[in-house]
Amino acid sequence: MATPLGEGPKHGAAMSELLVVEHAAFAIADGRFVWVGRAADWSGEAARALDVGGRAVVPGLVDPHTHAVWAGDRLADFDARTSGRSYEEILAAGGGIRSTIRATAAGSLDELVALARPRIAALVSSGATTIEVKSGYGFSVAAELRMLEAIDALAKAGRARLVPTLLIHIPPADARERDGYLAGVIEELIPETARRGLAAAVDVFVEREAFSVEEARTILECAREHRLGIKIHAEQFHSIGALELALRMGALSVDHLEACTAKQFAAFAGAKTIATVLPGVSLHLGLPAAPGRALIDAGAALAVGTDLNPGSSPLFSTSAALALAVRLNGLKAREALVAGTMNAACSLGLLDAGRIEAGLPADFLVLEDRDWRSLVYTLGANAVRETWIGGVKA
Ligand code: NIG
Ligand code: FE
Repeated sequence: MATPLGEGPKHGAAMSELLVVEHAAFAIADGRFVWVGRAADWSGEAARALDVGGRAVVPGLVDPHTHAVWAGDRLADFDARTSGRSYEEILAAGGGIRSTIRATAAGSLDELVALARPRIAALVSSGATTIEVKSGYGFSVAAELRMLEAIDALAKAGRARLVPTLLIHIPPADARERDGYLAGVIEELIPETARRGLAAAVDVFVEREAFSVEEARTILECAREHRLGIKIHAEQFHSIGALELALRMGALSVDHLEACTAKQFAAFAGAKTIATVLPGVSLHLGLPAAPGRALIDAGAALAVGTDLNPGSSPLFSTSAALALAVRLNGLKAREALVAGTMNAACSLGLLDAGRIEAGLPADFLVLEDRDWRSLVYTLGANAVRETWIGGVKA
């Protein structure tokens, strides 16, 4: 068994600290771990015993960044990109995220739930037991709220813990509508989301083709007034001040960071904001990967997510995201496990997930292999044999 230890998040060199127990055992009652140790030290009585045949066990993974609810597809974008057009060009021409908004905003609640259910199931079978899911393809107040209602319905119908985030994704294409749109976000969308308890946090995409730092600040201040957490999609393509805003505002996480440069690394040392890297995007868009190694060496607490979405990361496996983070972002296997469990949980404001410890929910994985490192070593097959959530096999 391998697990991060103690409360997180873990920064820098502490991201390499794991508790690895050979011949381990744990006891579960009422959906929680109640005892964890070496099998030889167990002296209690169990109503039912399960022998995993010497296979490795790790905590359930936490996928801290997904856009798992969408309608339509981006296969034409994919063709265009592989024929030489860039993601940003397609977006600037009214395609990309805007085409997914057109399809998603037209979907009914039931349609959105039905489309997202198998995606969530794929993440769970790849090891995710807690999954953040963003809105952001609704655009209008009604359609954004419908996306959040879809996430709520998925959470109630499934076993995985889903953590909903309201994403303010892209401004109107017509600049004259921009102020009116922002007024709707601040006066209606955020207050209504908070009033109905439909999101734990608000996220903003800060980029040349999306929102400015000033606009993001206004949106996130409103989020904070409504007692919601804050997150930023930052430095994906350009460094325009989003990272500095996130750190200044004490955001839960700053996500992407592909364009993060060396002079920004030091700002993470001791910062409570988690740096979330998304290697599926680097792979799918063929862009440089976020400097994960350098960020950890500078003292950052890193998390890794799939960023599952139709445009920049059609990656349906949370364990594969960790495997890619080792190859593309320069993480060690141990760091990848911490990034995909405890640190990812902290990036969602959760302190009771991402480790195997008495008192916490019994979310864990039985791997196919006897060595936990197979989780981040394996490519193209599922290293996860069983996903257990709250003591029940999913
Ligand atoms: O995390 N960067 C913006 N948002 C998503 C992509 C959404 C899309 O392309 O549909 C991301 O990469
Ligand atoms: Fe994203």
